[in-house]
Amino acid sequence: MNTSPVAAGSDRDPGAHLTAKRVHIGKYGLDVGPLGHLAAERARLAALSWQSFDARPLGATIGAELRGVDLTSDLPDEVIDEIRRALHAYKVIFFRDQPLTAAQHVAFARRFGDLEIHPFIPSNTGQPELVRFEKSADVGGYENGWHHDVTWRERPSMGAVLHALRVPQNGGDTLFADMCAAYDGLDDATREQIDDLVAVHDYAQVFGHVVQKEKRAEMRATYPTVEHPVACTHDATGRRHLYVNRFFTSHVVGFDEAESTALIDRLARRAEIAEYQCRFQWEDHSVGFWDNRAVQHYAASDYWPDVRVMERASIVGERPRR
Ligand code: SIN
Repeated sequence: MNTSPVAAGSDRDPGAHLTAKRVHIGKYGLDVGPLGHLAAERARLAALSWQSFDARPLGATIGAELRGVDLTSDLPDEVIDEIRRALHAYKVIFFRDQPLTAAQHVAFARRFGDLEIHPFIPSNTGQPELVRFEKSADVGGYENGWHHDVTWRERPSMGAVLHALRVPQNGGDTLFADMCAAYDGLDDATREQIDDLVAVHDYAQVFGHVVQKEKRAEMRATYPTVEHPVACTHDATGRRHLYVNRFFTSHVVGFDEAESTALIDRLARRAEIAEYQCRFQWEDHSVGFWDNRAVQHYAASDYWPDVRVMERASIVGERPRR
């Protein structure tokens, strides 16, 4: 075993050789010890450099705050391309002090593709492409479960741009979890088990209750349940990632209910592993941009009865593929 100190600037992970020594506490399903498989991606991200902004990484393999770019301006194509590359690398990127108007928010998001109109969440009154999360003493935050957005669509969002209009003094953070790292961290038997599986996704699990009875048949015809692979290949990076979440994934095709629920639960919960996460503390006019294929997110609902107002533009993605 090599225990010599790692030279500054080395891309070796001093903990990688310890992976075999992870301790498994069976009765709690607990694994304790270094997640050595993160080392290569962490080193790759640490070595990146950018022309148009500085990047300050947040988590081991996920999240970076980008400084030196003004999203209210009409950014040149080269800067947009570099932001897209940073999004693919860090999986979620953040910007501070971006007092976007609703029109500027839409214009920025549109540089990355067509925008969705969400059929269930209220929108900004002037810009239907922006869904508005307006929480207060009367409306609680209900996004505090790990999920990918809109996986009930045939072509779920490739990404979302979230603008913080008003944030509580304390709390209201959003957490993000790297589903590529989660896939890479699975044991071989689980990867083999899931690689060809397909799961069904259904909007009704979360939004069923907001559809009036007389509209249900029409909504179901417009948004039938859809099937996506349980593990997908990212269409830009080629990396494998988990693609099930407990908000919208209903069942695994060909499994009985108990088996299906247990598998989705086990895979989706990989988002709860702290080493796969980053957490962002919003300020007024912070902007977050996440890759909705590569991450699940969770909006901490710990600020009631305080006010938190966010607007989100979601960019149409490709059909997820195995
Ligand atoms: C969402 O789940 O898209 C909302 C995230 C947030 O409000 O932080």
